[in-house]
Amino acid sequence: MSSNALHVPVMLQRCLDMLAPALARPGAVVVDCTLGLGGHSEALLRDFPEARLIALDRDPSALRLAGERLAPYGDRATLVHAVYDELPEVLDRLGVPRVQGILFDLGVSSMQLDEAGRGFAYAQDAPLDMRMDQTTGVSAAEVLNTYPPGDLVRILRTYGEEKFAKKIVDAVVRERAKEPFTNSARLVELIREALPQAAKRTGGNPAKRTFQALRIEVNGELAVLERAIPAAVRALAVGGRIAVLSYHSLEDRLVKQVLAAGASNTAPPGLPVIPEQYQPRLKLLTRGAELPTEEEIAENRRAAPARFRGAERIREEVAP
Ligand SMILES: C[S@@+](CC[C@H](N)C(=O)[O-])C[C@H]1O[C@@H](n2cnc3c(N)ncnc32)[C@H](O)[C@@H]1O
Repeated sequence: MSSNALHVPVMLQRCLDMLAPALARPGAVVVDCTLGLGGHSEALLRDFPEARLIALDRDPSALRLAGERLAPYGDRATLVHAVYDELPEVLDRLGVPRVQGILFDLGVSSMQLDEAGRGFAYAQDAPLDMRMDQTTGVSAAEVLNTYPPGDLVRILRTYGEEKFAKKIVDAVVRERAKEPFTNSARLVELIREALPQAAKRTGGNPAKRTFQALRIEVNGELAVLERAIPAAVRALAVGGRIAVLSYHSLEDRLVKQVLAAGASNTAPPGLPVIPEQYQPRLKLLTRGAELPTEEEIAENRRAAPARFRGAERIREEVAP
């Protein structure tokens, strides 16, 4: 993977096309909940000259780098250090009651993966950190060294969909009693040894699922997302649109559920006519999850697991 390919924003044109009808108007506000290196944000500012951008990231270094990139856009861009489930408070502080567009490009950025010191990558030996915001929270090493075995098994099974969670955790518990884990290489080696031969022949690096699970736990990713998507839907003005790029089935399932619930009526069964207060608040803009094209994947491997969903706000919340 060339470093250039690593920085290409995923399904960029599709994101822009989906948000366009909501953003091509004076005074439109778009929120990029996952600024990262600012690829999507920059394209939004460039393509929608009448729109203002509010962009969030929990990683201070992403804000610094993207800040430099977006400096030419001056006060059209407001960058905020926040976890994205804080969106309602951020909008409140900025005095923005409703917005016209919201984008989530979930997961870690190529910059976070590339920087060995962040500890996300299993391919290079580095401190087991994995915090997207290194100023707060517990590191992957602390999770590994201190969590009860039952919790570790649950985390590996649920967040990593790791079939051999019990085998791996047994080995971790045995090894951590001898010496606490500090670096990724020792964990990768232990996983390699713990897995049966057959399991090692398929599915890429055997440490991949464990690393995904630890990352999700360290950053509380699914709990945050579960709060953030409904909050984002509430923040949309009527006619506003939300676009979400997920990178694994757990994220995508959550996004799908929230959007599908918003697009269904909430009436008790058997009503002959559905009263306004029960009518759906959302219209789905994607049929199932859309995938990147073969060409995009060939140019940018990071796009391969992407799943794209979107919806439009079609109704105000009506008090029952
Ligand atoms: C895949 S990258 C975004 C890349 C970006 N779209 C671009 O084009 O450069 C995801 C970013 O979201 C941030 N992030 C992940 N979870 C977050 C959360 N819960 N709150 C705020 N930022 C988060 C990460 O720190 C990372 O910088």
